Amino acid sequence: MVRRALTGIKPTGEPHVGNWLGAIRPALELADSYETFYFIADYHALNIIYDAGSLRQNSLSIAATYLAFGLDPNRSVFYRQSDIPEVFELAWILACFTPKGLMNRAHSYKDAVAKNLAAEKDPDFNINMGLYSYPVLMAADILLFSANVVPVGADQKQHVEIARDIAERINHNYGEALFTLPEPKIDDQVKTIVGLDGRKMSKSYDNTIPLFLDEKPLLKRINQVVTNSQAPDEPKDPDQSSVFQLHKLLLTQAEETALRARYQAGGMGWGQAKKDYFDALNARLEGPRKEYRRLLADPAALNAILAQGRDKARAQASPFLDKVRGAIGIR
Ligand code: ADP
Ligand code: TRP
Repeated sequence: MVRRALTGIKPTGEPHVGNWLGAIRPALELADSYETFYFIADYHALNIIYDAGSLRQNSLSIAATYLAFGLDPNRSVFYRQSDIPEVFELAWILACFTPKGLMNRAHSYKDAVAKNLAAEKDPDFNINMGLYSYPVLMAADILLFSANVVPVGADQKQHVEIARDIAERINHNYGEALFTLPEPKIDDQVKTIVGLDGRKMSKSYDNTIPLFLDEKPLLKRINQVVTNSQAPDEPKDPDQSSVFQLHKLLLTQAEETALRARYQAGGMGWGQAKKDYFDALNARLEGPRKEYRRLLADPAALNAILAQGRDKARAQASPFLDKVRGAIGIR
């Protein structure tokens, strides 16, 4: 039987090269070997974005991003979390089987408490129930669709384990295999992608290369990648260069070896190295950029694609939730 992979995408801001190579590309590749479910985790973003216009816009923009990079809505199920009411009913059911202690130990909550304590504040200062019970909602996303594997970044592994733990408790209580036990799928090949300043590329560090800039601002951004002060004729160590680290992600093994040799031979200045990276990146982004803009210019068409995904998702979610209701004695 074809196994099912499911993953959620939080619509929290302008997508960048780190998101593409670290999350979007590996997730979309799964469609070759799994039955795939992708969804916009808009209710997960409500925890972070309290501005209606931004939340609405980010959701459309992240949907357009995945489509622009090749998500095929006929081959995968692609929907908005908020369009699936079954998720939220299941979240309540799961909450009634989730030990509070398990949530106390969830990383994101623990990190928030640690920050408060370090600042000599009340441990729960500024922490709402959305943050605290986030893993329950995520477990509902996963368990509702009987996902076998959940592709996530390493920081989300614990959440998938929590989903598995909750599923096991319920299966055990009712003596039947109601829920499929999910496994996290963490891609070791995708390392942390570096940003302009050599740290992890992240919105929070303001060191990103956004995916859909026009050519000029894109080149300008790439010119901001930090380099050392070596002169053009000096041989350069590719492994110490952020430009090389970024560029090689777009290359085949043979191309990478050739580029490595050019760095080591000397005679190539940083300006040239950046221009070469720009050319390679721009060639990859040209098509998606056009497609992204086309999609965003027509929100009705975009919404129609998501509505088609909603119908496909609910056709599975609704009978499954009925089965759960029956098993627990709610009719
Ligand atoms: P940011 O750090 O910019 O806020 P997010 O946390 O929204 O990015 O990340 C969304 C997805 O992109 C996650 O799956 C995350 O693992 C992946 N991702 C983000 N930045 C990188 C990076 N620099 N390298 C690899 N993957 C990344
Ligand atoms: N929590 C995930 C993140 O922050 C997003 C997410 C929500 C998710 N629900 C999910 C991922 C279900 C995988 C499966 O990136």
